[in-house]
Amino acid sequence: MYIFKKEIDTLKAKGLKRTMRFVSSAANRYITIDKRKLLNLCSNNYLGLANDTRLEDAAITAIKKFGVGAGASRLVSGSTILHKKLEEKLAQFKQQEAALVYASGYSANLGIISSLVGRNDIVFSDRLNHASIIDGIILSRAQLVRYPHRDMEALERLLSMRPTPDARRPTLIVTDSVFSMDGDIAPIPKLLALAKKYDCLLMIDEAHATGVLGRKGRGSLEYFEAEVDERIIQMGTLSKAIGCLGGFVCGSKDLIDYLVNRSRSFIFSTALPAALCASALTAIQIIEKDNTLRQRLKENARFLRHGLQDMGFDTLDSKDTAIIPVVTKEQELTMEFSRRLFQEGIYAQGIRPPTVPEGLSRLRVTVMASHTKSDLEFALEKFRKIGKK
Ligand SMILES: Cc1ncc(COP(=O)(O)O)c(C=O)c1O
Repeated sequence: MYIFKKEIDTLKAKGLKRTMRFVSSAANRYITIDKRKLLNLCSNNYLGLANDTRLEDAAITAIKKFGVGAGASRLVSGSTILHKKLEEKLAQFKQQEAALVYASGYSANLGIISSLVGRNDIVFSDRLNHASIIDGIILSRAQLVRYPHRDMEALERLLSMRPTPDARRPTLIVTDSVFSMDGDIAPIPKLLALAKKYDCLLMIDEAHATGVLGRKGRGSLEYFEAEVDERIIQMGTLSKAIGCLGGFVCGSKDLIDYLVNRSRSFIFSTALPAALCASALTAIQIIEKDNTLRQRLKENARFLRHGLQDMGFDTLDSKDTAIIPVVTKEQELTMEFSRRLFQEGIYAQGIRPPTVPEGLSRLRVTVMASHTKSDLEFALEKFRKIGKK
């Protein structure tokens, strides 16, 4: 229809039209696109588990028993023993009483936030929170108060100015723990202190922290050595370091019971396939048992981040995470940089508005545990070559 074409033409004219590339390999350190094998610097498969044979075998065994699709929502006939085992494992891994699995991280954020708060509530949200958090708040119809990125003084000012809250209703503070486009980390201990002082729930999106941060890969609370507290709600995804698909939430038993009864994206959507539960369970067992993958990821991230910084690239405040933004500012320049890297054998996606603010376009570079030193040296050589021109 004319309106669609007009919109697409406008995006094209602004250099903002997005297209998909089709991949013909697994998402590991090398990826095949258009029959070309490229060094993969844009996957969230941080630990390389997405095509680990142990996860594949777990899925195949579960498929043989439970089939491919779940056939119904969890409350109808879609809950299997593997869902139960995965939820018990997640709760234990995240050190909370109970957990609940959703079909994706996106639908988890929608379903959790829109059932926790409603029209008369307020949600305090970091300005750079993920789109699924914003969409959850919009769906809830609660008042959205954005605080400047990681700015705890500003958050406290805003909290102290809020109207007297209804003691029977929760006020929610919500934050990514690792910011998906900036690769920096939220000040969780300060957020927790403010949540306590102002009697709020603190919801932490652990999408990029689970399996990455902390001694055992438990995430940001372990990284900061913070106590898991009853006002904390941890959500996350099984799609990044865990290498599968699906979302989850961990909290008190009462919270989980409440979500089972109130969370619409959980109630009205078909269950995550049992095979993915089996693979995710295997992934968490590997993450818990074996530090070597996480250690390698950490060393790779440090090596690449420092290498890029030494060349003068702006990597913002990214630290200790697998996400390294390389800020190129203008969107045309960003996409040109990405195209040139592609020609040189490297796949690194350009990120433009509206995903990031105007003037802060960037290459979102991600490292994996499976990258070798020579992969990363090759990447640095290409960044140096292209960055010079
Ligand atoms: C911070 C954050 N939260 C939530 C999600 C959504 O997770 P999923 O990909 O499982 O839908 C993402 C994914 O990009 C994310 O980066």
